Amino acid sequence: MSDAQLAQEAALRRTFAIISHPDAGKTTITEKMLLFGNAIQLAGSVKSKRAERHATSDWMKMEQERGISVTTSVMQFPYNGRIVNLLDTPGHEDFSEDTYRTLTAVDSALMVIDAAKGVEDRTIKLMEVCRLRTTPILTFINKMDRETRDPIEVMDEIETVLNIQCAPMTWPIGMGRQFKGVYHLYDDVIHLYTQGQGNRIPEDKRIEGLDSAEVDRVLGESAAEELRMEVELVRGASHAFDLEAYRRGELSPVYFGTAMGNFGVREMLNGFVEFAPTPQVRETDTREVVADDGRFSGFVFKIQANMDPKHRDRVAFLRICSGKYERNMKMRHVRIGKEVKIADALTFMASDRSHVEEAWPGDIIGLHNHGTIQIGDTFTAGEDMRFLGIPHFAPELFRRVRLRDPLKMKALQKGLQQLSEEGATQVFLPLDNNDLIVGAVGTLQFDVVAHRLKEEYKVDCLYEPVNVNTARWVYCADAKKLDEFKRKGSANLALDGGDYLTYLAPTRVNLQMTQERWPEIEFRATREH
Ligand code: G4P
Repeated sequence: MSDAQLAQEAALRRTFAIISHPDAGKTTITEKMLLFGNAIQLAGSVKSKRAERHATSDWMKMEQERGISVTTSVMQFPYNGRIVNLLDTPGHEDFSEDTYRTLTAVDSALMVIDAAKGVEDRTIKLMEVCRLRTTPILTFINKMDRETRDPIEVMDEIETVLNIQCAPMTWPIGMGRQFKGVYHLYDDVIHLYTQGQGNRIPEDKRIEGLDSAEVDRVLGESAAEELRMEVELVRGASHAFDLEAYRRGELSPVYFGTAMGNFGVREMLNGFVEFAPTPQVRETDTREVVADDGRFSGFVFKIQANMDPKHRDRVAFLRICSGKYERNMKMRHVRIGKEVKIADALTFMASDRSHVEEAWPGDIIGLHNHGTIQIGDTFTAGEDMRFLGIPHFAPELFRRVRLRDPLKMKALQKGLQQLSEEGATQVFLPLDNNDLIVGAVGTLQFDVVAHRLKEEYKVDCLYEPVNVNTARWVYCADAKKLDEFKRKGSANLALDGGDYLTYLAPTRVNLQMTQERWPEIEFRATREH
């Protein structure tokens, strides 16, 4: 591999995720993008494929019954000479921790907004997470084929609620039944909408030039005049596109369309592959890593179990940050300090798993995991360094686990340990007693854990309420103080699945009082892997 080839391959990559509120159209737009990437023949197969996979997988049956998708997958497709990696995230907010971590592995995000609903809760939360790493955001305002709110008002709401400038790239012509298409403000082209083209790549019916006589002919004179005035107004009243401001996460280019009608998606994708950042610089504990550094490096942001029920395997998703992956290459598994040979990494061509021969910065590869890989693990070409910024979040819900069969204690411990390494739950072992406490961000996580314990570890367990309101990871530079704190506060102290000392506070007031009493001790709401 030459340096030039590495730089070239890295420059082609666009790795991103979609942030949106449930129902805004994330699944639909994913399907249409795959269609444009020629990754699937017929839009609609993302859903049916998912359903198929669920039907064959034990624990996923449960999600299917609930009508939600817990799985996250990676889809790679080519578009306009670039390679796009789309990291899907769980739709249900009970699995938001998973989503947050996936957002650490992308270089940009696509925000999908329902034009009738505007900015919704989940989007606000996900935007906060993107802000932690100043992730560039491109916006698609969806469902223009319905009666929507005034597009100017929707953009205003994005600007004020999400605190990001909006630069319209396309502008909608009408809405609902009167939706005629979009005008591209920078290309000076009108793209006309035809209904009923949702399941194919629609022909691009275009009129060059807003001032052309054809616009009057097609839209009618008064509608054409109205559009010209509106465009003038929009240009005057909104921000102009500024590539640098977008890359800094301060300004979002905005596209309009209908994902269901597969319209406006092409213009958005064209803009996306042109403007979205290539694999970005990443921080480690020793140095910064640039993508075209020839030394291989990457980190694990997700572990997923049972993607293939026949193998009951667990796959660790590794984001390549620099260098090239080649089949059979040796990597250093930094946390355990060992060189490992990776013969059979997986790639994710449009949700099909196949073996990769090579992969480049920005790509995601799947490593078979037999329990040695944890979320946050760094793999390198031999160097001892760790990528930063892949957090654990303090759980908000807690339960004590009780066994129906007390003889299964070992299996339970092993199961909980593995599930916590995967990030499916967090487990806490109190210093003072033999309880097992599990923590989660959403209640559904508890159900998944109980179900998987039963299916995979043959352990039947129950949950009981436990008097824990919140958890904080405990740090203190002064070993003596820490010892004293451990002695005096042991009733509320536990070790988490990674053996980190944790304070389990029965109430918020208790936490506050403890913090006041022990000013030398740090109580952290997140812990880095
Ligand atoms: P999500 O993944 O963000 O949760 O949203 P999803 O794509 O599943 O879309 C949610 C609903 O909105 C779906 O309807 C979908 O068909 C619809 N939808 C998505 N894009 C558009 C659009 O541009 N225009 C209109 N009018 N509807 C859109 P559903 O009835 O819940 O599901 P389905 O039966 O259509 O699959």
